[in-house]
Amino acid sequence: MTKLLFIKASPRNAGSKSNALAEAYLDVLKQRQSDLAIDVLDLAKDRIPEFDGNKVAAKMAILAGEGPTGAAKTAWDEITEVANRFIAADRYLIATPMWNGGIPYRLKQYIDVIHQPGLLWGLDPKTGYFGLLKDKKAVLALTAGAYALTQPAPAFGIDHQSTYLKDWLNQAGVVDIKEIRFQPSLLTADPEGDFKAAAAKAQELASQS
Ligand SMILES: Cc1cc2nc3c(=O)[nH]c(=O)nc-3n(C[C@H](O)[C@H](O)[C@H](O)COP(=O)(O)O)c2cc1C
Repeated sequence: MTKLLFIKASPRNAGSKSNALAEAYLDVLKQRQSDLAIDVLDLAKDRIPEFDGNKVAAKMAILAGEGPTGAAKTAWDEITEVANRFIAADRYLIATPMWNGGIPYRLKQYIDVIHQPGLLWGLDPKTGYFGLLKDKKAVLALTAGAYALTQPAPAFGIDHQSTYLKDWLNQAGVVDIKEIRFQPSLLTADPEGDFKAAAAKAQELASQS
């Protein structure tokens, strides 16, 4: 069985183009991989814990090589539970719009919760960060209203969306990352036609997986 974690970052439900693009990819992948077990994490609906003072204390204790105690221990247990769902997956499908050049805050909150020492990464004082995840694959389904790879920057925006996600995944040890893009989704004369073309590319990628 291959476990795929489908993370949805847009709050636009059925209207979401990033979700629709990811679904186009998934439709073909499901046909090709009958053993696929899909876990859907909808960040607009599913509760992600706040990264509050107790969570920070827990992270600092772990970094200092101490076991968190009291409220920090409870916070660490909560972090571990959320992170373990991520760690359990073999593949990631992350659907996200660009928001203000970057990613929506709930996706950032999720990353802040799960990206922890001893769970997703380690730090060697001599060589730096190293990822603890091995043999995972990720696909990013990316939308943006005005930004596109072909539009001049910075007038149409700068991509802190894909670059941030790739840096984060790399640091966790996920290096096999593919992108599918529907960009621009708004600043186009033919949004429907462009979406169809993007969905076809997504399906082509899935057919090669
Ligand atoms: C809060 C917010 C911020 C946005 N910021 C940007 C941006 O910086 N650059 C851009 O090109 N589009 C931006 N957009 C447009 C969305 O990226 C675009 O509409 C995208 O297709 C939405 O994807 P979705 O349908 O999956 O929600 C923004 C939209 C919202 C709601």
